[in-house]
Amino acid sequence: MNDDFIVGERCFPPARELRQNSGATSRSDRRTYGSERNMTNSNSTRHTPRSQIRNIRFDQLGNYRLPLPGIVSILHRISGLLLFLCLPLLLWLFELSLASERSFERFVQISQSWVARIALLALGWALLHHLCAGVRFLLLDLHLGVDRVAALKSSMAVLAVSGSLTLLLALYVFGVL
Ligand code: HEM
Repeated sequence: MNDDFIVGERCFPPARELRQNSGATSRSDRRTYGSERNMTNSNSTRHTPRSQIRNIRFDQLGNYRLPLPGIVSILHRISGLLLFLCLPLLLWLFELSLASERSFERFVQISQSWVARIALLALGWALLHHLCAGVRFLLLDLHLGVDRVAALKSSMAVLAVSGSLTLLLALYVFGVL
């Protein structure tokens, strides 16, 4: 490992953070950011060597300290994928609930099982997190809350709001409310 680069301490931020820190908004901005930075480095660090900017290796992933906005971003991707993959299941349940009286009874029977309740809760979390984080990303795309502190606060807000709403959903799904 290069001594200049300490994984977990001085990691180069993921693409979204680049956009937040640099003010770069378009994909081309993000693509050129690295080379612009290197050019700046080569002019300004003639006497003081700076950390080398590069991707971490697979075996360094365990030491990588992902910032909260990065966690929100990964959860947004996972929740989007989960929602997409479960669409056929949701459509099937929807059809079952509407097709006939007998199929509706089957739908009620299925939806009251523990497996279905847990699956519904997981999907509920996915939708709530994806919605909250998605709105945050749309605001970032409008250049709102792009500085480091605001981005940290908004990612905390996403986790707090989606977490609380998921808790309420859990109470409802398991019959407490
Ligand atoms: C509820 C309202 C929703 C909002 C506000 C929303 C918002 C967003 C936004 C802003 C992105 C782009 C994020 C980025 O910049 O990387 C995105 C990505 C995505 N969304 Fe949604 N979305 C919503 C609902 C859904 C639903 C219902 C599904 C699935 C059926 C879905 C599936 C996805 C997927 C698969 C991605 C790509 C994720 C990735 O590769 O990072 N979204 N969404």
